[in-house]
Amino acid sequence: MTKRIYNFNAGPAALPLEVLKEAQKELLSYKKTGMSVMELSHRSKDYDEIIKTAQKNVLEILGLSDDYKVLFLGGGASMQFAMIPYNFLKEGTVADYVDTGAWSTKAIKEAKKAGNIHVVASSEDKEFTYIPKDIKFDENAAYIHFTSNNTIRGTQWQTIPEVGNIPLICDMSSDFMSRKLDFSKFSLIYAGAQKNVGPAGAYIVVIKKDILERQKKVNLFTMLNYETHIKKDSMFNTPPTFPIYIIGLVMKWIKNAGGLEAIEKENEKKAGLLYDFIDNSDGFYIGTTEKESRSKMNVTFILKNRDLEAKAIEEAKTKGLIGIKGHRSVGGLRASIYNAVPYRGIEALVDFLAKFKKNNS
Ligand SMILES: Cc1ncc(COP(=O)(O)O)c(C=O)c1O
Repeated sequence: MTKRIYNFNAGPAALPLEVLKEAQKELLSYKKTGMSVMELSHRSKDYDEIIKTAQKNVLEILGLSDDYKVLFLGGGASMQFAMIPYNFLKEGTVADYVDTGAWSTKAIKEAKKAGNIHVVASSEDKEFTYIPKDIKFDENAAYIHFTSNNTIRGTQWQTIPEVGNIPLICDMSSDFMSRKLDFSKFSLIYAGAQKNVGPAGAYIVVIKKDILERQKKVNLFTMLNYETHIKKDSMFNTPPTFPIYIIGLVMKWIKNAGGLEAIEKENEKKAGLLYDFIDNSDGFYIGTTEKESRSKMNVTFILKNRDLEAKAIEEAKTKGLIGIKGHRSVGGLRASIYNAVPYRGIEALVDFLAKFKKNNS
């Protein structure tokens, strides 16, 4: 096998090696079908078992009952930026949005096309380097939307906002399944698969069925109507079959790892190692977000001597440490350390950064 590198890409991102190996083993013939999963009919018994088991495992891992439905859809998490207001932002109502940068800004831009929204809090005043606190939500809001982890800036909500009975909707694209939360507080969670739970091509919606009571009472486009996908169990049309199969394997991997409690513990250890190193680097490396808002998934930092950043990124590549360039909109460095990036990968990165500092101080 070609040597595997440590992958710090922000998404598509690292997948667990065990999952890739299992997919490889089954690639030419899934079970005894004589076909790859890619070739199976989505209406076949074998595929039905794959998708149903994946849905069941998502709910089990999140600790949710069947008051919730798990949908695997195509179109990317970005599709939800439109679908949410399209379904739930009725005329005469207002939805509350929190702007924590890039992806939430995009969600806001789309929602404005569908109706009235209120940006109740924003961290734009400090270039989105923190998560706003003590937010006053409108108790009559149609719903509240926030982004739990900000992939580009490297900030993360440390707790779920208290919103009473207002439906809470969250873009969890870059920290879905990375920690244990009380997921029953959400009416709708969505996440692109390509960061923590699978390949690109599918995204996940975990939706509480009772939120349908709040849908617009108009003739919605069939494919953009949550009810369509809930009623048809995510099989209204041909779903992204292979990505869903891989998500299913990742769900088994999470269960075998001990569930979200164990995953969270490992993620804390990993993020702790990297942030401690940055904080103790005598200012050679500088974290770019407020400490109490730091993401455990996307660690963003710069070098005091900014001219050295490109060199660090290039040298890291030669050591098999891939993807530490910051997002093109903000620059600097970013290490995305999702579930599938092992602790030894962070050790290798820290080791490299320490040597780079020594050689360039
Ligand atoms: C937090 C967040 N939301 C939404 C998206 C958009 O996801 P997609 O490319 O699946 O539409 C991303 C992509 O990186 C993201 O990080």
